[in-house]
Amino acid sequence: MMRALGAYMLGVALGALFSAVAMAGNILPDGPGKILIEANCQSCHSLKLVVQQSMSRERWDETLTWMQKHHKLRQFSAEERRQILDYLAAKLGASAPAGTMGLMPPRPNPLLHTR
Ligand code: HEC
Repeated sequence: MMRALGAYMLGVALGALFSAVAMAGNILPDGPGKILIEANCQSCHSLKLVVQQSMSRERWDETLTWMQKHHKLRQFSAEERRQILDYLAAKLGASAPAGTMGLMPPRPNPLLHTR
């Protein structure tokens, strides 16, 4: 009995672990250009830093330029940059749900959201 329970608990724990790993590996919304973001945007920082933003195309453009100027982000061809900005503006644009893209529970502490 205890043994079966132990095996069950282990199964639950492993299941939770694997789904957490799977989620961490695929946090970008699907769409054209996603592969360019995966290839170019996680060598210096986590993709979480990317998905937690919601910015207009202009602000994304400035952010890329800022990283190129100050943080050694490589230069892109005009076509690559267009595709990267298309993706960011479409999927993480100014009207994207601010912040968390499902990385946080919707209301971590209901007592802090009483308005
Ligand atoms: C060569 C390194 C490098 C690469 C590659 C890189 N970044 Fe960054 N990025 C940085 C650094 C450094 C910061 C500042 C981190 C910090 O403030 O802790 C940053 C910060 C950011 C921020 C937060 C900006 C802010 O205002 O706080 C965003 C959004 C971002 N990067 C998006 C991207 C995207 C999109 C790509 C792919 C096109 C990318 N990064 C690729 C170095 C890089």
